[in-house]
Amino acid sequence: MPAKTFYLETFGCQMNVHDSERVAGTLQAQGYAPVGNMQEAELILFNTCSIRDKAAHKVFERLASAKPLARQGKKFGVLGCVAQQEGEAIYRRAPHVSLVAGSASYARLPELLRDLEAGAGRVSGLGAADEAFETELTRRGNPFRAYITIIEGCDKHCAYCVVPYTRGQERSRASAAILREAAELAGLGYTEVQLLGQNVNSYRDPAPARLDFAGLLAAAGEIPGLRRVRYTTSHPRDFTPAIVTAMGRNPVLCDHVHLPVQSGSDAVLARMRRGYTRARYLELIAAIRACPRPLAVTTDIIVGFPGETDRDFEQTAELLGEVRYAGAFIFKYSPRPHTEAQTWADDIADEVKTQRLMILQQRQQQIQMEDNQAWVGREVEAMVEGRHPKLSQWTGRTSSNRVVNFSAPEAAPAPGLAILGQPAPAPAGFTPGAYVRVRVERAGANSLVGHQVA
Ligand code: 5AD
Ligand code: SF4
Repeated sequence: MPAKTFYLETFGCQMNVHDSERVAGTLQAQGYAPVGNMQEAELILFNTCSIRDKAAHKVFERLASAKPLARQGKKFGVLGCVAQQEGEAIYRRAPHVSLVAGSASYARLPELLRDLEAGAGRVSGLGAADEAFETELTRRGNPFRAYITIIEGCDKHCAYCVVPYTRGQERSRASAAILREAAELAGLGYTEVQLLGQNVNSYRDPAPARLDFAGLLAAAGEIPGLRRVRYTTSHPRDFTPAIVTAMGRNPVLCDHVHLPVQSGSDAVLARMRRGYTRARYLELIAAIRACPRPLAVTTDIIVGFPGETDRDFEQTAELLGEVRYAGAFIFKYSPRPHTEAQTWADDIADEVKTQRLMILQQRQQQIQMEDNQAWVGREVEAMVEGRHPKLSQWTGRTSSNRVVNFSAPEAAPAPGLAILGQPAPAPAGFTPGAYVRVRVERAGANSLVGHQVA
């Protein structure tokens, strides 16, 4: 009997990327072998994102373009946030789909797959989960950075956000299981781990240790073998100064905080149900800036939220200048099903949203350009991610998550062997995950550029 094969394509955030690693491991334990393209696969899976309308749309386009493959007997499955949001309505929009499962149902995947193999026409996993998904079967796709989920779901119910409906209620994993997984990964040679959750700051340890997020982070930073511990995403409402204290004490905890502000206007923040004011947010920024080690702060911003006036927008633009973020993801508001804001008029014209988006992006690029100049002449440690496809340079990241492109001294030819006309010696090779000291020589808005120092 030919081996069962699957192809899995992932959209969306790091949570989804990591869910795909866990799904792939689960499938392999069921006897499925991964393949790199749809043509070779018997089972074609899309792990989907529905954070904005455009993201959700993408999967239906992919499904439509792949439809002819269904005639060859291939089966299609939709996983993740669109699966949970649309449920069995997916079968109506894309009748060639035979599996629909939200992230809260991944523990049931083996059973769903068995039903599908046994000839069930359609199988769905759309329930809610009371516990985080635990599996020993993760198949990690990234050889140098390991993701570890610490909390799933979200209870915040921001007025614009679909996540509480697609990922369900908050479920924290036991600290002992998280720290064991991190230690095992260090044992396997991973030196960087990233702790994941929609809101890591509301982590509540169900185990007797009762660690809060700051305690968990501090404990992860002590695991022998780990050189970098990152986390994402934070919510300003639950972010505590104790997190900054933990980061200040241990340089293994990376110099980066992603703290989405969404808007600089109190009126908009209140309508968004964010649970903090601009002043409170700025207090958190001050606490972060007071860390003995400089920490890079990045953010997410939504423009064009219902009722956003020119003055509201100007306050967001001013906030960029006040905080001077190291990076900002800026999005146009997109109404989402089930959310409170969807019941309000989406009253900011698309052209206005686009204009506001462009103004903020431009201002943010200018800030990054200026602030990155401060790195010129300094040395940074980069973890190598690979070879830059266009520049003939290596690319890596600093602890603060800045991209560093660098060249390395070419391997010196052995004495006496430098023969005229010989091809130039190959550059020194790095394996992804190597740590390299780089002297920064130039800086752009989005990257630092330099040379390896011996
Ligand atoms: N429209 C636009 N952007 C959104 N985000 C979340 N929901 C929406 C929405 N409905 C943005 C927020 C969040 C990031 C992951 O996506 O900025 O922090
Ligand atoms: Fe997209 Fe949010 Fe789901 Fe991540 S959790 S895949 S960002 S909708």
